[in-house]
Amino acid sequence: MLAVLLAVLLPLVAAAQKTRPGRKEILDHLSHMRATEKGMMNVASKEGEYLSELVKKLKAHRALEIGTSNGYSGVWLAMGLRETGGKLLTLDIDEGRRSLALKNFKATGLDDVIESRLGDALKIIPTLEGPFDLVFIDAWKPDYKKYLDMTLPLVRSGGVIAAHNVESHPQDMQDFLLAIRTNPQLRTEIVKLGPGGLSISYKK
Ligand SMILES: C[S@@+](CC[C@H](N)C(=O)[O-])C[C@H]1O[C@@H](n2cnc3c(N)ncnc32)[C@H](O)[C@@H]1O
Repeated sequence: MLAVLLAVLLPLVAAAQKTRPGRKEILDHLSHMRATEKGMMNVASKEGEYLSELVKKLKAHRALEIGTSNGYSGVWLAMGLRETGGKLLTLDIDEGRRSLALKNFKATGLDDVIESRLGDALKIIPTLEGPFDLVFIDAWKPDYKKYLDMTLPLVRSGGVIAAHNVESHPQDMQDFLLAIRTNPQLRTEIVKLGPGGLSISYKK
């Protein structure tokens, strides 16, 4: 019975693995997104790659992204999560950008790693349960401190709250920057791989 089941299932699994885009195809799709989908406020490619590696370093199983846009950073996060066996929950309030993201998640074959929710992150986050290994904040800059306060209790010890644009928009997030530097629960470093800049705050 087991042999019969395996004989049926193994070719199906092999076929599914063959048709899923590989790393090179995903990287090509990311370049295509950058070239053709303008005004999406995406992280730089080196920042995306860094986030993907961070997911692996943390052995992240649950990641939360606040600000999906067309899914560019989400694809990078999900590439890391594919390797750790984890999942990404990504939130955006804009229907148009979110539908582009859904298309991009499907095209990269990462849609099974990503749950995308349409809505106001400030309303959705209070309904979420932790723990998360990684939170990536990349939405409306003056709200960053609110996101920090909301998500810090949801992040496991040793996990990370990362945020984009800390170099390009410091004046719009002064309260957030002060908090990540002075909160005794956090150890923060700034990573400069693109014009936006990433803050990486480890929860002690
Ligand atoms: C800078 S873009 C995100 C870019 C994306 N992380 C990337 O690198 O590909 C910011 C996104 O945050 C979304 N956003 C802003 N405020 C929001 C809110 N309160 N709830 C959900 N999404 C929000 C915007 O609609 C926009 O698509």
